[in-house]
Parts: sequence; structure tokens; C-alpha cells
Amino acid sequence: MSKTMHTKLLSLLYSTITIILCLISQSQSKTHEDDTNALIEIKRAIDPNSVSQSSFLYSWNFTLDPCECTGSVFLGILCTLPLDNTSSRVTALDLDTIGYEGFLTPAIGNLTELTVLNLNNNKFRGPLPESLGNLRKLIRITMSSNFFTGTIPQGITQLKNLEHLDLSRNRLSGKIPEEITGLRSLTYLSLSRNGFAGRTPDLTGIWQLGTLDLSFNQFYGNLPILPIRLRRLYLSHNIFSGRLTPLKGLMHLKWLDISDNRLSGGITKDIFYLHGVVHLNVSYNRFTMIDPVKYSGDGPMLQVLEAQGNQLKGHLPLNLVTYRNLTSINFANNQFHGPIPEEYGPMLQGQWRRLLLDLNFLSGKLPLEFRHNNTKVTVGISNNCLVCPTSVAICRGAQRPVTECMGEQNL
Ligand SMILES: *[C@@H]1O[C@H](CO)[C@@H](O)[C@H](O)[C@H]1NC(C)=O
Ligand SMILES: *[C@@H]1O[C@H](CO)[C@@H](O)[C@H](O)[C@H]1NC(C)=O
Ligand SMILES: *[C@@H]1O[C@H](CO)[C@@H](O)[C@H](O)[C@H]1NC(C)=O
Ligand SMILES: *[C@@H]1O[C@H](CO)[C@@H](O)[C@H](O)[C@H]1NC(C)=O
Ligand SMILES: *[C@@H]1O[C@H](CO)[C@@H](O)[C@H](O)[C@H]1NC(C)=O
Ligand SMILES: *[C@@H]1O[C@H](CO)[C@@H](O)[C@H](O)[C@H]1NC(C)=O
Repeated sequence: MSKTMHTKLLSLLYSTITIILCLISQSQSKTHEDDTNALIEIKRAIDPNSVSQSSFLYSWNFTLDPCECTGSVFLGILCTLPLDNTSSRVTALDLDTIGYEGFLTPAIGNLTELTVLNLNNNKFRGPLPESLGNLRKLIRITMSSNFFTGTIPQGITQLKNLEHLDLSRNRLSGKIPEEITGLRSLTYLSLSRNGFAGRTPDLTGIWQLGTLDLSFNQFYGNLPILPIRLRRLYLSHNIFSGRLTPLKGLMHLKWLDISDNRLSGGITKDIFYLHGVVHLNVSYNRFTMIDPVKYSGDGPMLQVLEAQGNQLKGHLPLNLVTYRNLTSINFANNQFHGPIPEEYGPMLQGQWRRLLLDLNFLSGKLPLEFRHNNTKVTVGISNNCLVCPTSVAICRGAQRPVTECMGEQNL
């Protein structure tokens, strides 16, 4: 995904800068003693067997000064370049993704000028040290894909400059601390794929937040109250319940995935008025009604509508044909009744590329266009109560047995 590419690019950038800095800093002043000691402790807490010869940590040779380095030693750190004789400070710790095994030592809390801390894709285990809260200049913490355990240290909520916090893919647990709303600079927060649980606090205080990813945890209760600038929201694979109303008014949303929860009620104008949403996934919930608002003119940006595995009732919504950017619709595994609207027919020869209606109770004859052989469109209509001659390509999948179609007018 573009996120990991971005991270890779960043680490490449940092390592390049590090090498350049090493070459031009022959007469630089020595590293602050606390910083050197902290780096020694950081390396000491890593199992030497996991420090391969090609790794950044292997290049940390403490017979040399970390910030005064030349050539390819002390890869993965950046330092300040003081103009006077004061000592250099470490400003970035950006490790390679080599699979380092070990702990993150509390001594990290002495690198008080640190702005970037990246430990992504390694095998760090144990708790996140409380001393992270000392690193008041931190702008970016990325610790994704490790084996960290325990809770979010309270100290992290004191980092007023923090813009990017990625703790995804670890074994962290506990709640989101209420004080997280003090992170006024935060624009990106991912806690995805951990063991977090509990109700989520009101997050409106993180008013600059653009991306929130809480997916694959055990959060429960109503959907959180969210900051207005949010563009990407991932809440899938939790136990959220209640209605969609808390999402009302998030006018900047572009990506919304709330699939695999226990949400109920209707998918109505609260959602469909969010016309910037390009991708909407409400699959595998307990919604009983979908009512897209009718658009005219420019219409909404919606391209993908995923709503399979709910309890949607009634007729297929007609208004969807007014969504000019819509290409993919998945209504499979619901309880839709009645015929496939005639208006859906021309859409198969127009912009729609995917229409999945399998496992409903649709009945009657197919609109004319459904009988054409259109290989550009994926259509699924199996397991309904349709009149579907096997000479029509999309009728290959069987329909429901008559006993399940009692009351459906399929003749
Ligand atoms: C560390 O640097 C010293 C001085 O340049 C050098 O003699 C020594 O071989 C280096 N050690 C390693 C493990 O590279
Ligand atoms: C910096 O070092 C030089 C030479 O070592 C010395 O003359 C000068 O006074 C020092 N300046 C400061 C601000 O310590
Ligand atoms: C941080 O630095 C101080 C001063 O050098 C030192 O006393 C302390 O032990 C260090 N903290 C850790 C956790 O290493
Ligand atoms: C929607 O969510 C479901 C369940 O999380 C997932 O299986 C499906 O791939 C998602 N659809 C799209 C188009 O991302
Ligand atoms: C939506 O469709 C319009 C034209 O119908 C197009 O100009 C616009 O770029 C599309 N938006 C997106 C996000 O694809
Ligand atoms: C539809 O197209 C497929 C593949 O091109 C072909 O095998 C099939 O005979 C066609 N069916 C009809 C009804 O035209």
C-alpha cells in the first residue's frame, strides 16, 4: 500500500541524509553524553543474534562518536549540526526493517531532541516505555508490525508536537486514554490490529486528524464522536453497535470502512449527504434499510458501495442510478425483495462494472440488458427467486428452491 511505500521512501531519505551528514561533518562537535549513552542502551537491549552485518545497528560502533561519524557508520540516526561548540543531539532514530529482536529501553527517554522515531517491521517486544513521554519534540512515531504489549503509555498523550502516531500491528491492549485528545497536532492515528478494547472517547479534540484507523480491535459501544476534518476512517472488525448518526456532518470524508461490526438501523441521508465519500463499506453489520438520497447534476463522488451481509429489506434502491461515479455495488446476502429495477439495466452497459445481488429474495424477470453478454461487467444474481433461463450467461448460478420463495411473485 502507498502508506508503506511512503514509509520506505522516508527511511531511504533519512539514511541518505545520514550518510551525507557524516561526510560533511568532520569538525562537528561531539554528541551529547546522554544521547550517546542512550544509543548504547538501545543497542544493548537488542539481541545481538538479530543484528545482522548488513543492518543499521551493526554499524553503530561506539569507539567512534555517533554524530561525528563519517562513512557508513551510525546508520539510522540523524543529529543536529550545532553552530557553536555545544554538543550534537540525536534528532531521528529511524531503524531498518531487519527483524531486530528485543526491548525498547526506557533510556530512549534521554534522547530529548528526538523528532522521528521509527521502529516499524521488527520484533520488538515488551511494553512501550513510559519515558517516551519525555520526548516532547517528537513529531512522528511509527512502531507498526512489532510485538509490543501492554497499554498506551500515559506519557504519549503529552507529546504536543506529535503529528503521526502508528502503533498498528502489535499486541497492545487496554483503552484509548481520554487524554489522547490533548494531541492537538495529530493528523494520523493508527491503532489497527491490536487487542485494544472498550468504548472510544470523544475524539473531536484531535481537531486536525485526517486519518483514523481503529480496525481489527475489540472496541465496542456507539461509534465515536469524531473530528470534523477526518478524511479516512477505518473502524472495521470491531464490536461497535448503535446507529450511524455520529458520522453525520463529517463532510471531508473520502474513505469510510465500518464493515464487520454490529451497527444497526438505516443507511440514510446522514451517510449519503457525505458526497465526498469515494469508498463506502458497511458490509457485515445489522443494517435493515438503505435509502440513498437522489442526486441531480454533479452528484456524489461515491465509486464503491459495499453492503453485503446485512439485513437490508424492501426493494433495491432506485436512486443509485443517479450516482454518476458509482461503478461497484455489492448487495449480496441481504433480504431484498421484488424485481430488479428496469433502471438498473442501462447501467450495466454504462458505468457499472460490478453488481452483486446474490443471496437475496429478488423475483420476477431480468431487465433486458441483463440478458446480454457483457464480459466487462461482473454480475451476480444467484440464489434469488428470479426467473432466470440458463441460456443467459449470468444465470449459471442456481436460484433458491421454490420453498424458500413462497410469497415471492416469481411467475
Ligand atoms: C570500530 O571502529 C574502530 C575505529 O575506526 C575500528 O578499529 C574497529 O574495527 C571498528 N569495529 C567494528 C566492529 O567495526
Ligand atoms: C569554541 O571553541 C573554540 C576553540 O576550541 C573557543 O575558542 C571558543 O571560545 C569556544 N566557544 C564557545 C562558545 O564555547
Ligand atoms: C538519562 O540520563 C541521566 C543523566 O545522564 C542518567 O542519570 C539516567 O540514568 C539516564 N536515564 C536512563 C533511563 O538511562
Ligand atoms: C468490505 O469489507 C469486507 C469485510 O470487512 C471485506 O471483506 C471486503 O473486502 C470490503 N470490500 C472492499 C471493496 O474493500
Ligand atoms: C466523478 O465523475 C465526474 C464526471 O461524471 C468526474 O469529472 C470526476 O472526476 C469523478 N470523480 C472522481 C473522484 O472520480
Ligand atoms: C457469451 O460469451 C461467451 C464468451 O464470449 C460465449 O461462450 C457464449 O456463447 C456467449 N453467450 C451468448 C448467449 O451469446
